[in-house]
Amino acid sequence: MLKMKAMNKHDSKKRKSNLMNVLLSKSSKVKTIPIFFAAPGSLGKDLEALTKQQRAWLQDTGWKSDKGSISILPGTDGLVGGVVLGLGGIRDKAEMALLIGQLARSIPAGAYHFHEDPPDAELSAISWLMGGYYYDRYSDRHGRLVRHLRLPEGVDKDNVMRIVNGMVLGRDLINTPPNDLGPAELSAAAQHIADQHGAEFKEIVGDDLLRENYPLIHAVGRASDRPPRLIELRWGESHHPKVTLVGKGITFDTGGLNLKPGNSMALMKKDMGGAATVLALAMMIMSADLPVCLHVLVPTADNNVGRDAFRPSDVIASRQGMSVEIGNTDAEGRLVLADALAKGDEDEPELMICIATLTGAARVALGVEVPPFYVDNDDIAQALYQVSLETRDPLWRMPFWKPYDAQLASKIADVNHITDSGFGGSITAGLFLKRFVTKATDFIFLDIYGWVPQDRPGKPRGGEPQSARALFEFLKNRYGKRQA
Ligand code: BES
Ligand code: MN
Ligand code: ZN
Repeated sequence: MLKMKAMNKHDSKKRKSNLMNVLLSKSSKVKTIPIFFAAPGSLGKDLEALTKQQRAWLQDTGWKSDKGSISILPGTDGLVGGVVLGLGGIRDKAEMALLIGQLARSIPAGAYHFHEDPPDAELSAISWLMGGYYYDRYSDRHGRLVRHLRLPEGVDKDNVMRIVNGMVLGRDLINTPPNDLGPAELSAAAQHIADQHGAEFKEIVGDDLLRENYPLIHAVGRASDRPPRLIELRWGESHHPKVTLVGKGITFDTGGLNLKPGNSMALMKKDMGGAATVLALAMMIMSADLPVCLHVLVPTADNNVGRDAFRPSDVIASRQGMSVEIGNTDAEGRLVLADALAKGDEDEPELMICIATLTGAARVALGVEVPPFYVDNDDIAQALYQVSLETRDPLWRMPFWKPYDAQLASKIADVNHITDSGFGGSITAGLFLKRFVTKATDFIFLDIYGWVPQDRPGKPRGGEPQSARALFEFLKNRYGKRQA
């Protein structure tokens, strides 16, 4: 077998984020161009500050204040003198913030300020940066346009940047094609994050997974030349509440022997979206120095076809002890997660959060924009739902519906890992995972899509670590700031 790895000139280490130094301090001497917001009807109060010529320009070009419509205003010197953003029909301040993200993708390169700060100034700044994101590892045809923004009043730049840095890392990881991001590269990214934040890093690779009792992770990944791994990060003080994050890290999902058809396989580089989201969230938590004792577990593997591939109808032991009958090799995510969850559960965390691109069924239920989350605790459900709306990182609760658990019965093993019915597929996947979490106080499972199929305001097409921002806000509210 040919083992040599092709040289790749697109080395990620040489890349610099085009989002660095985008936010200008309030006192910066740089001359900035004003951005005006216009409500429908009249041209809007904000527009009274326009010159007569600029108002004539709006009239003459037939500009309307429809939602998201943009006009570039001329200055007296012939250069860009201002920008107007239409807000017709917007529902709330969060939607306004996302439109500002869209704006940051459309206007000429330059430095800008808000003539009047938007009501959700922090989300607007985050959105500005997220809207300006491009994945440019393989092509710089976007010319690395930079649109600077003067920091709006009262916005905590550090908080904005820790959220944005996490999101950019998550997007970059998901967007990286599978030939350049396998289990080893995902692990290297995790180690880099651990080093940056002084976290403890550990990994178990290949056949060591069998020796250390992770049979399901090994089974899923063993048909690939790129061995499976369990990546582990630990950070924080042991007397703080234990929070454990587990993310699905399938770096490519062919479906295994139950091979996916071409169109279903096309996007499966994003099947490590849960891992990317968990790492993004971990970065935010560590950078904010949240008073939690953090444990991150990322089981990572290629779900491949090969002579050593695991088969439908195999029965495999799990770390936790239950024997698992394999119903379909394309339901690989819940298998690698089962062993990782069992490991996390051994520490009896107060909160276990599992994030995964786990089922197509979640998309049938809710579409691609609103991932379902599952948790038995009603207070947690309510709080998470609420912040997901405020951060415009929307989530919707679905039930761990106990009666369906019986559908996971196997004739010959302790549990079958899929059901026959095909209905309620996201719920039954969640119920399967839940069987491996018995000691954690609370368990949240998120079945994310991890991808934006078409540009939306603030959310350019491509990888998206859905739920990272909402969960960060939720955890900040729950655990607060570290006491000095
Ligand atoms: N990674 C897929 C799920 C997926 C597919 C997420 C498309 C997002 C978009 C997962 O490994 C999978 O293949 N699940 C199967 C499970 C089935 C075989 C029980 C599915 O959802 O079809
Ligand atoms: Mn699959
Ligand atoms: Zn998968």
